[in-house]
Amino acid sequence: MSITANWSYPTAIKFGAGRIKELADHCKSVGMKKPLLVTDRGLASMPITQGALDVLEAAGLGRAIFADVDPNPNDVNLAAGVKAFKDGGHDGVIAFGGGSGLDLGKAVAFMAGQTRPVWDFEDIGDWWTRASVEGIAPIIAVPTTAGTGSEVGRASVITNSETHTKKVIFHPKFLPAVTICDPELTVGMPKAITAGTGMDAFAHCLEAYSSPFYHPMSAGIALEGMRLVKEYLPRAFKDGTDIEARANMMSAAAMGAVAFQKGLGAIHSLSHPVGALYNTHHGTTNAVVMPAVLAFNRPAIEEKIAAAAAYLGISGGFDGFADYVVSLRAELGIPEKLSALGVGTDRIDEMAAMAIVDPTAGGNPVELTLDAAKALFHETI
Ligand SMILES: [Fe+2]
Repeated sequence: MSITANWSYPTAIKFGAGRIKELADHCKSVGMKKPLLVTDRGLASMPITQGALDVLEAAGLGRAIFADVDPNPNDVNLAAGVKAFKDGGHDGVIAFGGGSGLDLGKAVAFMAGQTRPVWDFEDIGDWWTRASVEGIAPIIAVPTTAGTGSEVGRASVITNSETHTKKVIFHPKFLPAVTICDPELTVGMPKAITAGTGMDAFAHCLEAYSSPFYHPMSAGIALEGMRLVKEYLPRAFKDGTDIEARANMMSAAAMGAVAFQKGLGAIHSLSHPVGALYNTHHGTTNAVVMPAVLAFNRPAIEEKIAAAAAYLGISGGFDGFADYVVSLRAELGIPEKLSALGVGTDRIDEMAAMAIVDPTAGGNPVELTLDAAKALFHETI
C-alpha cells in the first residue's frame, strides 16, 4: 500500500428541509440569469419539479426545462439537451433528479463548451485535459433521491446509444458549484426506490471502505455513511415522511459518493453488466449481489469489516456484519437472487467478461478473475 494519493473534496452543500426555496438565490450567486433545469421525463410534471420552476420564475429567472432524458441517459439525450441549452440562450444548468437527471444535466453544462465528441472525455488517464474550460456552464445540483451521490461527483455516466455501453465522462468542472440537499424532495419516493437507492449508498460506502487504496479521509466518511444507513434506511423505508430519516439518508448518499474516490469493487463490477443487459435497478442489483461479494472478499477484509461492525454496534465481527447485510436486504423487501429481477444464467460468460474489465473491478480487495466472476454470477442468479 502506497501512502501517496491525489485527493479532492466536494463543494458548497446547502443542506436542510425546505431549502429548495433558496434555488434562485444560489443561481444568482453563481452568475446564472437564465438557467435551464434538466431532469427526466418522469419528474418533469411532478409537484417538486414545478415548485422549483415556480421559485425560479418568481425571481425573474424564467422556468425553462429540458426533460427528454431516458432512465439511462445517452448521447442522443445529451445532444438534444445541449441544443436546448444553446437555442434558449441559457447560462447555467440546474441538474435536478435522481442519477439520470443529475448526470445528464452536468453533461449538458460541460458539453455546451466543447467542440469534440463526448467520448473524447471518457474517464481514462488525462483525457479530461482535452476539454475547453472557458465554455463550461455553471451547475447547481438538486438531488431528489438518496443514493447516487452524483450531486457531489465529478463525473457522469452516459450510455453510448450505438454500442449500448455505459461510459464514465469525467472533468473536475462536472462538480456542481452549489448542491441543494433538501430531504423534503425525497418524501414521495416509492418504497422500492427508497430501498434500492439507499442500498446503492450503502454499497458505495462498503466498497470504498473495503478497497485497498490509501485514502483515510474517505475511509472515515464511508464508515459513518454506513452507520447512517443502518440507523435511518429502515426508518425511511417504513415511513417515507420521516424527514429526519430522509435527511440522514441524503447525507449518507453524498458521503458514499465522496467516499468512493477511494474506489469501488466487485459489487459494482457485477451490477453494471447486469444493469446494461437486463435494465435492472442499479441499487437493487447491488443489494442482491452484496452478500456473495462480501464473502468472496473475506480473506482480504475480515479485520476491517470486524472493526466496522464494532463501530456500527453489530456483534459477531465479520460474520455478524454479513448476517446484518442479509437481514437488512430482507427487511427492505429486496430479493435474494438476480433471477427474481429477470436475470437468466444464459449470459453469464458475457457478463463475467464485462465485469472483469469494468472500471470498478480494480478497487476490489481480492482480484476479480474471470472464473471468480462466473462463480459469483452462478451463485447470485
Ligand atoms: Fe452505485
